Amino acid sequence: MHPLATGLPFYRDCPEDIWAVSFLLRGGQAVALPTETVYGLAAHALDENAVQSLFQIKGRPLIDPLIVHVQDITAAQALGEMNTAALKLAQAFWPGPLTLIVPKKACVPDLVTAGHPSVALRIPSHPVFRKVLACCQLPLAAPSANPFGYVSPTRAAHVRASLGHKAPYILEGGPCEHGLESTIILLTDPKNPCVLRPGPIGMQALEAVLEQKVELKTIAASDQTAQLSPGLLSQHYSPRTPLKIFPFGVTLPTLPGTARVFWKRPKDNKEDHTFWLSENGNSQEAAQNVYHLLQTLDQLGVSVIYWEIAPEGPLEAAINNRLIRAAAKTQA
Ligand code: TXA
Ligand code: MG
Repeated sequence: MHPLATGLPFYRDCPEDIWAVSFLLRGGQAVALPTETVYGLAAHALDENAVQSLFQIKGRPLIDPLIVHVQDITAAQALGEMNTAALKLAQAFWPGPLTLIVPKKACVPDLVTAGHPSVALRIPSHPVFRKVLACCQLPLAAPSANPFGYVSPTRAAHVRASLGHKAPYILEGGPCEHGLESTIILLTDPKNPCVLRPGPIGMQALEAVLEQKVELKTIAASDQTAQLSPGLLSQHYSPRTPLKIFPFGVTLPTLPGTARVFWKRPKDNKEDHTFWLSENGNSQEAAQNVYHLLQTLDQLGVSVIYWEIAPEGPLEAAINNRLIRAAAKTQA
């Protein structure tokens, strides 16, 4: 961590700090805020300089578009064409961990959408984020609050540790409830809805509301989808420590100077540096812990992390989607 960053205080969930943070946002500053998925680095979505600073702070390529967070469906309709499919999903899952990509309106800067004719929209449910939205009365562009390609933050301390003095303003809101980024669904062609990023809202839940088939786009670097959404590329969410993933149920190596992560608490857990995502294999508990454990283990100084991936299941698939990308650098 940068030495200047260590003494910086966090803003808290109290009326004075919510007001102070909103004042900073209205003045074009970037502020890290808690959401129910991961912490986001937020800025006024219609202020190009403010949006530009998000890319700079994260070291994120300008071709990677941002999600805009709004207070209600009316605010979403001011920024994007909320077609019937979008409205159905918004009514079912907002506020919550679902991002809708719809055709954009002219007021949204091209910088936000990386020049695409579509915009990604979401109403977050985290009470602290909602207080900020209500106070600042702005649409907020917010990527996850981590350096580009690194592990997403699920606690305020992760943001401080990875962005340091580059992101001095952080609003503390406790650990994130879901621990994985929102599900992203592309609705620009309502006849052919596609999930671009699996997340807390599963395919079946989306299909039940839309009453139609939803496609899952698996993304390879050569794909057109990769051009559309570089943040969804195969190498992402990577810790600095090499990470090797193993099929569910296999025995993980116990070499000295390495760490092991199991899906649930193993019977034999006395080996040094042995961790687990959940006590009994509860997928929500596991999802909450994935990024926290990746961040923690990255500070341990081990030479490699061996990680058992999740068994089959909807949320398990979203967890494995992140683990496969996190390990892609090591396993390439
Ligand atoms: O849960 C979340 O979604 C968190 C919290 C902070 O809301 N945000 C988040 O943002 O994960 P970010 O920037 O880390 O990931 C957003 C993804 C990127 O991979 C980006 O490529 C994709 O959304 N995206 C944004 N706008 C898009 C668009 N118009 N078309 C296609 N993909 C888009
Ligand atoms: Mg991200």
